[in-house]
Amino acid sequence: MANSEIMKDIVSLAKRRGFIYQGSDIYQGLAGTYDYGPLGVLLKNNIKNSWWQDFVTDREDMYGLDASILMNAKVWQSSGHVAGFSDPLVEDLKTKKRFRADHLLEEAGFPVEGLNLTQMTEIIQSNNIKSPDGNPLSEARQFNMMFETAVGAVDGDISYLRPETAQGIFVNFKNVVDSFHPKLPFGIGQIGKAFRNEITPRDFLFRVREFEQMEVEYFVHPDSWQINFTMWQEVIKVWAGKIGIDLNKLSELEIGEEDRAHYSQRTIDFQFEYPFGVKELFGLAYRGNYDLTKHTEGSGVDLAYLDQETGEKFIPHVIEPSLGVDRAVLSVLVSSYREDDLGGDKRVYLDLPFLVAPIKVAVFPLLKNKPQLIEKGRQVFSDLKSELSFVMWDDNGNIGKRYRRQDEIGTPYCVTIDFDTLEDNTVTVRQRNTGEQKRIAISELLSYIKNN
Ligand code: ATP
Ligand code: GLY
Repeated sequence: MANSEIMKDIVSLAKRRGFIYQGSDIYQGLAGTYDYGPLGVLLKNNIKNSWWQDFVTDREDMYGLDASILMNAKVWQSSGHVAGFSDPLVEDLKTKKRFRADHLLEEAGFPVEGLNLTQMTEIIQSNNIKSPDGNPLSEARQFNMMFETAVGAVDGDISYLRPETAQGIFVNFKNVVDSFHPKLPFGIGQIGKAFRNEITPRDFLFRVREFEQMEVEYFVHPDSWQINFTMWQEVIKVWAGKIGIDLNKLSELEIGEEDRAHYSQRTIDFQFEYPFGVKELFGLAYRGNYDLTKHTEGSGVDLAYLDQETGEKFIPHVIEPSLGVDRAVLSVLVSSYREDDLGGDKRVYLDLPFLVAPIKVAVFPLLKNKPQLIEKGRQVFSDLKSELSFVMWDDNGNIGKRYRRQDEIGTPYCVTIDFDTLEDNTVTVRQRNTGEQKRIAISELLSYIKNN
């Protein structure tokens, strides 16, 4: 199937089955915003919880944080975002529509790595590159991607919606050190919303204006940045496999100096093969001591770290794994989407790992008008529900249709209560990928589901 078809099918499944809706849908939407429906929020929370566990709570060297989205505007001046957080923009001179200059050049087949604004403008003009609507383009200029917002009732008091969660961590570095006196290396992790006024949001959840990040700022002695960089590189890969990202579609790209963010001394992009191309999924950056130094200068508060054992005082260096929640959700959906023939019927299913599947088990009474089946089924359902998050009850339509509905949303197991159940306390358990069915004693059901 063509890649564009796969993307269309995934977007339509996501909407139809309550995973992801266009933001502000009944008002023709708002570009670059999506809302997570009942199944989407379960999938997304499972991904975030797994990250939180693997990157924060299971580790002795990590602390959690939930900082404000709104911060003093000086944070963004010190961090360099006011001056430098921008993308190259060109305008269609006729329609006034705006586009990413580098994206238009890439689409026209020109390599864009390391190009500055003047060079982009030159290529556009000498090759007569037009806007997607066929009109001439303006010169390229920088466009700052931070959303500005008024704070309070006084004219002129402004702040920004944070474009990365990272700065909330840097400004709390001293608070955490003062509360816990951690030894280096240690890190602070946070999950939260970030906002970027992307010039051209596109490709479903890939490039949106409001998204979530899962970020770690890991503070190290400057001598040990390399070994810690490699350690996080490994942690990211292992976790990506665990949540169901197809590792054959995952690759790593070393970013050249001219294309790195203003704070970075080394960056690896984890790229994913989306149906619309190979593009960034997650980032891993060595930020040196850029941020803590800038915040020391900007705030006047000394953010140096005193090593109690050696007596050495220095500004720690930082390794930053930065993972987008929404790109993770998209990559998991792309990795798990399957079409096959089962028993002569075409079907669609999501091959989601148990860990992230929104519904772990669906429970079906064979018939909905037989009180004994319902009663027994409800018992099985509530026993499972108290142990697993999330279990669904479905008594609607024939069993085949109920299986198909669960396949489409990636439910690993379906359990059917039938007349034999009333006699011998066994149920039919059906496995999603193979369609294989087994008779299992109710007393064994939970351990069968957990151990398979
Ligand atoms: P791109 O080059 O694709 O714009 P970026 O290099 O600007 O991405 P980073 O600044 O490294 O992205 O952001 C860290 C992570 O945040 C990304 O790896 C991605 O997972 C996520 N992210 C960034 N921008 C967006 C966006 N507009 N929509 C969804 N996720 C995003
Ligand atoms: N904190 C890294 C980024 O958002 O780009």
